[in-house]
Amino acid sequence: MNSTVNIAIDGPAGAGKSTIARRLAAEMGYIYVDTGALYRTVALNVVRHSVESDNTNAIIGLLKDADVNIAYKNGEQRVILNGEDVSELIRTPEISMMASKVSAIPEVRTFLLGLQRKLARENNVVMDGRDIATVVLPEARVKIFLTASAEVRARRRYIELLDKGTEVEFETVLKEMIQRDEQDMNRAVAPLKPSEDSVIVDTSDVDLDGAVRLMREAVESQLKKG
Ligand code: DC
Repeated sequence: MNSTVNIAIDGPAGAGKSTIARRLAAEMGYIYVDTGALYRTVALNVVRHSVESDNTNAIIGLLKDADVNIAYKNGEQRVILNGEDVSELIRTPEISMMASKVSAIPEVRTFLLGLQRKLARENNVVMDGRDIATVVLPEARVKIFLTASAEVRARRRYIELLDKGTEVEFETVLKEMIQRDEQDMNRAVAPLKPSEDSVIVDTSDVDLDGAVRLMREAVESQLKKG
């Protein structure tokens, strides 16, 4: 029996998972685990070795020398690849697309599963991803599927990229968002989908504070149910 409290938050890219989950974790005194960052770290390793996204055998081969870990610095999650903090390097459109590709490979998913479960076993966590409720933590106390329309999600991601000084076209961001959704939803292993017992929270028509409020209500009502 797991004595820690686990909150699973799944949903497509740009639904606001990480921002909302981080706020929720801080309010509850839980640690926040962004599992997408782990897939991004594997993707960065693949790009650094100049391996193409369709070369599955080579991608699997790279795993044995890849030490992927999570650390916390000033309460913020950092991802560590072979001892190097790569937290900033994984936030590019190229890595987003490669992460979506590598995450469809079963060996990559298995490679990252133990670390995610260990974090949840040892800590109260708010963990976000695509398959947390369905695969990683099926026993989580709270399961939420956070979503919003593709337009709204692309607009948010576009503004985020502009704020960071990345030059992009909105149309490109929207196209890549839709492509990534399709890849994530249609893969054979651990596809993105709500578990049967997830509460669906749609943030298309609310701002960030509204989304956090909706989320908090959903969490509280599920925690009450026990
Ligand atoms: O949440 P994100 O955009 O940082 O995730 C990057 C990619 O990683 C995403 O396209 C799908 C994949 N991913 C996954 O397959 N399973 C998870 N639990 C988290 C992310």
